[in-house]
Amino acid sequence: MLEAAVPVRGAAQLAYAVDDVRGAALAWSGRTGAGPFFVRDHPPAVAQDAHGDAAVFCHTSAFGQWGSVQLELVQVHAETSASLREALQASAGLHHVAWFADDLAAEQQRLVGLGWPRVMAARTSSGSGYAFHDARHDVGHLVEVYEPTEGLRRLYDHVAAASRDWDGRNPVRPLPDLGPAGPSAERPCPRPRPRPGRGRRARSRTSPGGSGRGVRVQITGRNVLVTGANRGLGLAIVEALLARGAATVYAGARDPSTLDGARDRLGDRVVAVRLDVTSHDDRTAVVASCPDVDLVVSNAGLAPAGRVLDTDEALVRETFEVNVFGPLELLRGLAPALRVRSGGVLFINSLTGLVVSRSSPVYGASKAAQRMLAAALREQLLADGVVVTTSHAGFVDTDMAKDVPYPKASPEEVAERSLAAWEAEAAVVFPDRFAEMVEDALLTRMREVLDEPQRLMTSLVSDLQRG
Ligand SMILES: NC(=O)c1ccc[n+]([C@@H]2O[C@H](COP(=O)([O-])OP(=O)(O)OC[C@H]3O[C@@H](n4cnc5c(N)ncnc54)[C@H](OP(=O)(O)O)[C@@H]3O)[C@@H](O)[C@H]2O)c1
Repeated sequence: MLEAAVPVRGAAQLAYAVDDVRGAALAWSGRTGAGPFFVRDHPPAVAQDAHGDAAVFCHTSAFGQWGSVQLELVQVHAETSASLREALQASAGLHHVAWFADDLAAEQQRLVGLGWPRVMAARTSSGSGYAFHDARHDVGHLVEVYEPTEGLRRLYDHVAAASRDWDGRNPVRPLPDLGPAGPSAERPCPRPRPRPGRGRRARSRTSPGGSGRGVRVQITGRNVLVTGANRGLGLAIVEALLARGAATVYAGARDPSTLDGARDRLGDRVVAVRLDVTSHDDRTAVVASCPDVDLVVSNAGLAPAGRVLDTDEALVRETFEVNVFGPLELLRGLAPALRVRSGGVLFINSLTGLVVSRSSPVYGASKAAQRMLAAALREQLLADGVVVTTSHAGFVDTDMAKDVPYPKASPEEVAERSLAAWEAEAAVVFPDRFAEMVEDALLTRMREVLDEPQRLMTSLVSDLQRG
């Protein structure tokens, strides 16, 4: 038996159930300094339910070190064990505490003796056994026990080593191949089902969640076109797509040479394409030269400041060209490919598309128009298996918001949460804290949104500043 890398029967890991594993990892890292987190998608496992019948436990986990314990954030995609499902639905927050057991069978017997019945046992493809027991009536959560095998020990050591002297960069990373006994390659899960009973806020952030029509956005292995990819949020989206396993990212930029640094850093999967979204010629060339595009992120944007009547007509028209007409015509050209390939479209919209902006009302008007087009396109394209999602971001720390004096979300957080919602087939996502606050106001204070939007936004910004 191996010498255990962590104390046997001492807690080695705390695990939390989350709806968006990458977004939650970013948030945990930002709040606690835990990390970096390593994401493992769909680890294969052979599972049995409480009665010994075959079960599915399909999930994605992020592992990060938090002081002396490991944190696991677990997003369950599908589970067929009724007892596990019941336990998972009832456990909000802390999902399980895990420890190692040299003799897994004996430890399971001991837990059953404590009145903590087994809800699921499983074996990974590398042969590590683990089991969940239901200790909720005693301590409020499940417990997980597992064998200190070589593969698991490598995982623990890798996560702990990465946290030492970590400078805070790249808080969410794919889990690398840790060797023959380590985690195995991913494989597709059964189709995810919406998870009831996860709490009001968690549900509301990506509404309504799931098209229910059997379509699925999968980024791994797909070709993705991103507009405005050379800086700001667009560049963060390119990196997040690569981390999720995109095969090729066609990075659109008005001046492709502005992508040279990113290509050197990120490698050959990034292909620079010239794309001014307002140019008919550029759009036509992209449609012709990228016939294998599966997914499109419509991110390029223009946000002039200034009151409505003080903004000259040319600038109003240019804003609508960049934010509305250009993206619409680009999608008109790409729609045949997206339909054939059951693809998807992610619109990077803004809160200004939902609540009037005092500083940039023309920008807001264009985003409102884009929002309606996106909603209608979602309806039109869903029948062909194309998922259209709209992300309503708050203040994001990019050049566009450089003069905004309020707390801003990182582009990485907004990118991660937007992509996660897209993969979950959500119609709409509010991908940062301020966006969530405005979403709450839209759901609960619509009268004020309609009658006194600026007063409402001023008060929400004050709340944001107070933390
Ligand atoms: N920052 C925020 O607070 C915030 C909040 C909510 C939503 N958003 C949205 O997020 C998206 C990205 O904005 P950002 O914050 O990353 O702003 P940014 O740093 O100003 O970047 C804007 C991007 O759009 C590109 N672009 C502008 N006009 C274009 C055109 N005609 N054709 C192609 N690309 C064009 C720019 O390219 P060049 O380098 O060539 O100029 C740049 O890559 C926008 O849709 C914006 O509305 C931003």
